[in-house]
Amino acid sequence: MRLVFALMVAAAPALAQEVVTPQIPREEGLAAWDRIFEVTSHPRCTNCHVGDAGIPMWEALGYGEERVHGMGIVADDSRIGAESVPCRTCHVTSARANTVPHAPPHIDDAWRLPPIELEWLDKSSAEVCAQMRDPETNDGNTIAELVEHLQTSAFVAWGFDPGAGRSAPTGTVEDIARDVALWGEAGTPCVEG
Ligand code: HEC
Ligand code: HEC
Repeated sequence: MRLVFALMVAAAPALAQEVVTPQIPREEGLAAWDRIFEVTSHPRCTNCHVGDAGIPMWEALGYGEERVHGMGIVADDSRIGAESVPCRTCHVTSARANTVPHAPPHIDDAWRLPPIELEWLDKSSAEVCAQMRDPETNDGNTIAELVEHLQTSAFVAWGFDPGAGRSAPTGTVEDIARDVALWGEAGTPCVEG
């Protein structure tokens, strides 16, 4: 009898693991979203993730809040300034490190603004959350594709390591990629409001 009882106790956890499908609780998903939003609302991201006016920002560069890009730069419909002054005039494509303060940042990709639907500047956590989980408004991405973008984008890599004395969001590329995957596994929960 004692032996049977001991066997039952030993078997219980294994059984429980088989029956219960692993799932990320909603609370953990919401906590992951909070960390994601902390990054996506950082000026290193929102200076590019602006809306349809196509005016890049110069926030968190020592000029104060609400400061738009100098020299009247607009990205136009092309999002690269093709119709006015192209971004590449100053933001060259180069993998070299950014070391000179207040010089135009460069990355190993063509400097440009994201599609208008990815507007994050001045948006609430709930707004960005709803926008990000819907392929209709997140540039057509599944959660796995968003994770891949975060892991491979030269823009994101630069945002976390901008150099030249610029501030950066908390965490790393791997942290936000893991948080987006976690948020996805929890069913992309958003708080209302
Ligand atoms: C220099 C401008 C620029 C900066 C800075 C920037 N992004 Fe983006 N982002 C883009 C562009 C352009 C796209 C559209 C996809 C592409 O062309 O790579 C994009 C798209 C995205 C997407 C959606 C993926 C997709 O396929 O469209 C995510 C997520 C994203 N960015 C995250 C970030 C995060 C996080 C930061 C800050 C750490 C950031 N971005 C900073 C330009 C920028
Ligand atoms: C005439 C030169 C010039 C052109 C053209 C130009 N930029 Fe800039 N840009 C700069 C300079 C210089 C800075 C750095 C400002 C500073 O750090 O004080 C900058 C910084 C930025 C930043 C802020 C980066 C950060 O640290 O957060 C963004 C975003 C940006 N530019 C986007 C664009 C886009 C998009 C275009 C094309 C539509 C463009 N720029 C065209 C000169 C230019």
